[in-house]
Amino acid sequence: MKPLYIVMLGPPGAGKGTQAKQIAQELGLVHVSTGDLFRENLKNETDLGVLAQRYMNKGELVPDEVTVQMVEERLSRPDCEKGAVLDGFPRTAAQAKALDGMLGKYDAVVKAVPYIKVPDRVLVERLSGRWMSHSGRVYHEKYNPPTVKWIDDLDGSQLYQRDDDKPETVRHRIKVYNQQTAPLIDYYHDKGVLVEIDGTQAIDAVRDDILNAVRQN
Ligand code: AP5
Repeated sequence: MKPLYIVMLGPPGAGKGTQAKQIAQELGLVHVSTGDLFRENLKNETDLGVLAQRYMNKGELVPDEVTVQMVEERLSRPDCEKGAVLDGFPRTAAQAKALDGMLGKYDAVVKAVPYIKVPDRVLVERLSGRWMSHSGRVYHEKYNPPTVKWIDDLDGSQLYQRDDDKPETVRHRIKVYNQQTAPLIDYYHDKGVLVEIDGTQAIDAVRDDILNAVRQN
């Protein structure tokens, strides 16, 4: 069987990470998040992490060459044999073309691109109330709270807020998204794989819509 690749598209805070984890689990695929990969490098103080931090703290994109190389290495690992749910990649036209090239080597293409639509005012509220676990689980103080405030349900560790979730950085990330990533909506629409998803619904309803769309595509 050919590997299956799904690209989650949408602005910062749309719910890509929340959904990608569930969709990957449901379909037996690996969740590959470029933001999580950069944050892991940052935690381990690698050269890549130090470089990425300079861009992430400002809400700017990490350069394409670095990001593409990191994703290519990740997708070549054995656990991605059946495919992956890509979250936060591609984010520029150059990255989208690079992804097509990478998948070509596995005789595969992007099967579906759920585009999660959420208005800007909701994005700022979602990101300013987001609490993260160090292993990448995502909560929201109001919409998806942990059982005990600031404590991860699964391992009991302390939750934290991302440095780039400050309102001014969020506004800049949304601007960068509109300039550099939104053009991918047309790119994937023209390939016939884009599916619009109403991201203002409850988390479970969004997940069901994405799964239905992926299964039909
Ligand atoms: P990254 O980590 O990818 O951030 P992002 O794309 O800005 O997306 P977010 O993680 O902020 O939001 P999300 O859509 O995943 O929402 P979530 O599910 O958490 O990237 C960070 C940085 O890394 C970039 O700025 C850049 O510097 C760099 N980078 C990463 N990839 C790169 C690339 N390819 N090229 C170059 N640079 C790159 O949900 C948000 C909140 O809302 C949560 O609290 C959640 O609980 C809540 N929520 C989710 N769904 C719902 C719902 N339906 N209803 C109510 N609340 C909800």
